[in-house]
Amino acid sequence: MNITAKKSVNLQVNIGSLQLKNPIMPASGAFGEDMDSVIDFNEIAAIVPKSITKYPRKGNKTPRVCEVPAGMINSIGIQSKGIEYYLQHTLPYYRQYEVPLISSISADSFDEFAEMAETIGRVDGVAALELNISCPNLKGDGHAFGMDPESTYKLIHQVKQVTDKPVIAKLTPNVTSIQDIALAAEQGGADGLNVANTILAMSIDVHSRKPKIGNVMGGLSGPAVKPIIVRMIYQVRQVTRLPIIGCGGVMTGEDAIEMMLAGASAVQVGTASFVQPTAMLDILRQMVDYMVQYGIADINELIGGVIID
Ligand SMILES: Cc1cc2nc3c(=O)[nH]c(=O)nc-3n(C[C@H](O)[C@H](O)[C@H](O)COP(=O)(O)O)c2cc1C
Repeated sequence: MNITAKKSVNLQVNIGSLQLKNPIMPASGAFGEDMDSVIDFNEIAAIVPKSITKYPRKGNKTPRVCEVPAGMINSIGIQSKGIEYYLQHTLPYYRQYEVPLISSISADSFDEFAEMAETIGRVDGVAALELNISCPNLKGDGHAFGMDPESTYKLIHQVKQVTDKPVIAKLTPNVTSIQDIALAAEQGGADGLNVANTILAMSIDVHSRKPKIGNVMGGLSGPAVKPIIVRMIYQVRQVTRLPIIGCGGVMTGEDAIEMMLAGASAVQVGTASFVQPTAMLDILRQMVDYMVQYGIADINELIGGVIID
């Protein structure tokens, strides 16, 4: 089944040198091999596996997820089988699909990020690297690389020295000025920006008086975060021409269109896939319907198209 076959609209977009057949791809951590029984991976823009770490990690204390109004909080803690498994199993498995694969990398230090980017960047079939700079650094104080312009610049710059693959910086929204971080990533040499990871949040069970998440705090995702992310995409678009991947709270085609109007060239879908595993393809169909309704032949016309009077 081809989503655009019956309707003559162009859905192709670019993230730098990366050509995508349409703007919809999974958000890291909300996608896995088992989803191929419900959707055809060749219909989405790209494959984005869960962030990989150098060494296997068990992940955080349970419970790791909880529902909140209009969203969920998670603190998975990057549960990971480590890079060896990733190189030997995960990447070879996805090679059967024709769409580009974007590898999401998580690391504890600048050097570890660079080492992993160099290794994964050399693998055939890896089209781009997404750096999860929202993860805590070595200080162990929960402070993420992407919370600080200097460490953002330093990290991207170091990674760009060791790989020719396009590098997408996945920003954290837990900052005062997303524009300062976006600029630092651009100066460091990023080829694209993902706006953004989850928003630090907390929820308490008033009956047990305990946090609903084992790790006390976690990341909020889902519809609750969308207006904040749309605002950030719009702000980032004001200061950089780097292509933006919007991420946070997209549940429908109109949500994805909204992110593109704010300035995103492509959109990632996370929480929606937990609610409805076919969400990415449903969203794509709804985007095509919107384009037909408004006589838009090329989706690129919408990027940054918000009208401010
Ligand atoms: C269960 C879960 C696991 C996640 N794991 C990762 C991860 O490994 N790496 C990453 O960069 N983001 C991770 N995220 C964040 C998502 O990629 C995305 O940025 C966030 O959920 C916002 O999008 P959404 O509202 O569409 O879910 C995770 C999110 C959830 C809900």
